[in-house]
Amino acid sequence: MSETFLAESIQPTAFAFSEENAKAAEAVVAKYPKGHQRSAVMPLLDLAQRQEGWLSRAAMDVVARMLGMPPIKVYEVATFYTMYNLRPVGRLHVQICTNISCWLRGAPEVVRAAKEVLGVEFGETRSDGAATLSEVECLGACANAPVMQVGDDLYEDLTYESTKAVLTALLAGEKPPVGSQTGRRGACPCCGATTLKDKAGDHVAKEPAKPKAKAAAKPGKETA
Ligand code: FES
Repeated sequence: MSETFLAESIQPTAFAFSEENAKAAEAVVAKYPKGHQRSAVMPLLDLAQRQEGWLSRAAMDVVARMLGMPPIKVYEVATFYTMYNLRPVGRLHVQICTNISCWLRGAPEVVRAAKEVLGVEFGETRSDGAATLSEVECLGACANAPVMQVGDDLYEDLTYESTKAVLTALLAGEKPPVGSQTGRRGACPCCGATTLKDKAGDHVAKEPAKPKAKAAAKPGKETA
């Protein structure tokens, strides 16, 4: 279990879901068949994190009680996934993927740009609380690598320059367009189509002409 997780000094003594989130939690638990309510542990932890901004041990204990789970089982889930923040994070939580696809496609330059703009290293939060920088494993958007997640948004096809532009805009309170930063549509090939280039119409036109059907004989005329 991580050192951060054990840091008593940052742990609140209690947690309670808000009225609205308590209803949302009940609705999530009700989705699972009787006897399988534990399957709701991840969405409930996410709900607690969205309410608190991070996931305290008190919140995990509340989730454990709601689902009839030993607290250690909940801690195991929370400490396994990087999407759960086990300590407070800044207003912007900037997570950069440095896994293989992103690394090969320029993640080191994305990291360099982020560190320059934010002025912090991985695992650190700015002194003004504006942002936290984290290194994460695959964000599930490898086709558009390199990728950075800020909050719930993904910024894809990043370069040193576009990373700087996105983060500078976010720090200024702006909302730069999410998704590909090169204008690529979805996960289409970055340099244009490589297969199936022919349009359907052209393809049909290039097919060998079919022999014309023999004209029907006019009434009253003999055919050879
Ligand atoms: S390797 Fe970076 S998104 Fe998958």
